[in-house]
Amino acid sequence: MRKPLIAGNWKMNLNHIEAPKLANEIGAGLKHAIENIIDFVDIVICPSFTSIQAVSDAIKDYPFLSLGAQNVSWERSGAFTGEISVEMLRPLGVRFVIIGHSERRHILKENNEFIASKTRLLIEDRFVPILCVGETLEQRQQNNHRSIVETQLKSGLKYLDSDKVKNIVIAYEPVWAIGTGRNATVSDAEDMIGHIRKVLNGIEKDVANNVRVLYGGSVTPENIDSFMQSDDIDGALVGGASLKSDQFIEIIKYKERS
Ligand code: PGA
Repeated sequence: MRKPLIAGNWKMNLNHIEAPKLANEIGAGLKHAIENIIDFVDIVICPSFTSIQAVSDAIKDYPFLSLGAQNVSWERSGAFTGEISVEMLRPLGVRFVIIGHSERRHILKENNEFIASKTRLLIEDRFVPILCVGETLEQRQQNNHRSIVETQLKSGLKYLDSDKVKNIVIAYEPVWAIGTGRNATVSDAEDMIGHIRKVLNGIEKDVANNVRVLYGGSVTPENIDSFMQSDDIDGALVGGASLKSDQFIEIIKYKERS
């Protein structure tokens, strides 16, 4: 059984005073809302780098909240102005790292090679990479969406020994659904996630049974239940709705409604 995972990607929002406040609201809200929450869902919050220390301190009372980063350097240290390394994230208690987010691929021009190096480093260092894949609207309209995602996946994982593939989390996030209020349908998401599992099994026999595959793109308290009812979808990567404590809490409370 794969344990569901719900991650909040706060993107470039909230400073080091605002971010721990939100973390605290989420922690306090969930603590009272759901008993033994840690047993049935992994909850990850991913603040910006400048807020990680403050959020790390704020969630000490909430062991059911894990800390994630939104990116990491492909190198451990050295002359890489503006980069943040695994060596800096580890002592802050970061366990998860989002890589290959579409905003980094499309706006910051990160390519598959770059992302593959990050995946390798994270796995070597026992972080959990949340590797994002997803097609643009144009690619979908041209019926290229499966091959685009397949390429992103295979190249993102190409430096891993196949027995390490089970240690990653994949987030399928169609670019056209991110921040647009236009989520993919459950059947579109299932169709692509089914394809992702096939590709994973091609890399390592039967590994897909152990890899969590999330859906991301305009997830809200209103649509989370339908995604989580699908056996193929193991959770969600949530942007906008994770910035409002009441909405993020409602999303995580899908479990009580299921
Ligand atoms: P969204 O963002 O929920 O605001 O669409 C998702 C993401 O970018 O991970």
